Amino acid sequence: MTTTNSDAVLPAQGIEAPRSGRIDPKYLRSNPSAGSFEMVAWVFMRVSGAALVVLIFVHLWVNLMVGDGIHQIDFAFVAGKWSNPVWQFWDLTMLWLAMLHGTNGMRTIINDYAEKDSTRLWLKSILYLAATVIIILGTMVIFTFEACLVNEAGELLEYAPAFCENVTQ
Ligand code: HEM
Repeated sequence: MTTTNSDAVLPAQGIEAPRSGRIDPKYLRSNPSAGSFEMVAWVFMRVSGAALVVLIFVHLWVNLMVGDGIHQIDFAFVAGKWSNPVWQFWDLTMLWLAMLHGTNGMRTIINDYAEKDSTRLWLKSILYLAATVIIILGTMVIFTFEACLVNEAGELLEYAPAFCENVTQ
């Protein structure tokens, strides 16, 4: 007796074809209780990644290739850059995007690899705390940075940038 194709027991029998409409609800992308957070996070990783390429490579080029390159990097160099609002904004954007991008990437990795609920909770709590502290401290440093520091006698510190000579003490 011969077996026709329609009678054959296929290994895949019992597994629903995609889009059959009989998919376990937990795998449905349109799960209304999940909201759109993961979608926004996915798009954010792509957009922030593209922005970071430009931000990081201009940052590296200006610091390492222009002028004396790495030899010019000292307190005065940073002070000179942060006296310009463009570089303040540039570094602030780089800080925020890199931190949010890196933190969201680590959140994904923790969700993927930490199996226990309590482990995930702990790891993500530490991650969010660390990210918050770094973002707040970094932002404060950029906006409260004092280039022209003086000693008790009111003299400029030796590593102050040249433009401080013109600043009235
Ligand atoms: C140079 C610019 C960068 C580009 C173009 C970029 C791009 C990306 C993209 C597209 C993803 C998503 C990958 C996926 O979902 O499969 C990703 C993930 C990630 N990124 Fe970046 N990124 C950049 C810089 C950074 C920086 C500066 C950090 C750290 C502060 C970082 C940390 C991460 C982490 C931890 C992940 C998660 C990796 C994973 O899911 O396995 N990235 N990156």
